[in-house]
Amino acid sequence: MALRHFLSLDDLSGDEIRALLARALELKRWRSAGRRPPLFQHKTLAMIFEKSSTRTRVSFEGAMAEGGGKAIFLSSQESQLGRGEPPEDTARVLSQMADAIMVRTFAHETVERIAKCASVPVINGLTDTLHPCQVLADLLTYLEHRGDIAGKRVAWVGDGNNMCNTFISAARLMNFELRVATPAAYPPSMAAQAGDAARVTLGHDPKVAVRDADLVVTDVWASMGQEQEADTRREVFRPFQVSAELMSLAAPTALFMHCLPAHRGEEVTAEVIDHPASVVWDEAGNRLHAQKALLEFLLNPR
Ligand code: CP
Ligand code: NVA
Repeated sequence: MALRHFLSLDDLSGDEIRALLARALELKRWRSAGRRPPLFQHKTLAMIFEKSSTRTRVSFEGAMAEGGGKAIFLSSQESQLGRGEPPEDTARVLSQMADAIMVRTFAHETVERIAKCASVPVINGLTDTLHPCQVLADLLTYLEHRGDIAGKRVAWVGDGNNMCNTFISAARLMNFELRVATPAAYPPSMAAQAGDAARVTLGHDPKVAVRDADLVVTDVWASMGQEQEADTRREVFRPFQVSAELMSLAAPTALFMHCLPAHRGEEVTAEVIDHPASVVWDEAGNRLHAQKALLEFLLNPR
């Protein structure tokens, strides 16, 4: 079986994503019934974190623990990566000891360099460019609440960041319409790929994006690594806040998603994120189930 990595949603086909989501739902049901199969017995996941995390760390660590395996947390400060050991050498070494490597880092190129030299699967736990594990959980959440996302209308409002880029891939793979509204100076870096996909439109008016949407998604205005720009961004992004007024333009059954952590009063009002149409806690919880299915797919290919 050829080595598979998960650096981008595009590393899977639409059919593979659908199968993975079905398996995640099954694993979630089993867990609710008290069943935690030993999917990862005697397996080790090495996790490199060069940025902060709550959900990604706990969901990967929990997934491995519940499946009878082990996750090892490496921060850049406490590992030799922080002292300049090249990512390629780290990849070669970790491949001798772990069954898979998860990486959260800044430049997307770093996960690509690690994947190139790893002889075990490498998983992108977030880069400046993409956050595919989160979007797997988001797709799972939509499926649970509203069924197949194919043919639905999704609005992305806010920064053209790593989450927005990943939704662009998702629209193509899962066959839904994506309407993106960002400030003109903050388009998604994968705008070119969006151009190829007839289902993706890029614009700058949140009202146009949200009108009749089945799902409205936003994220922080300043991502990790952009802390210095937070004040400037707060001013530019103010018209992109997801408020109850904006949500009222969406379809009556529309859901709201945010990958978290969120800033109430900035990208989303408290009223919207704490409303029953908001499924943010399910999105967070579904990280566990989606990643169990992903780890199973990469570690135990059938
Ligand atoms: N959504 C998400 O990836 O959260 P963490 O930064 O807490 O991992
Ligand atoms: N866009 C955010 C997502 C956090 C999970 C960031 O990169 O900081």
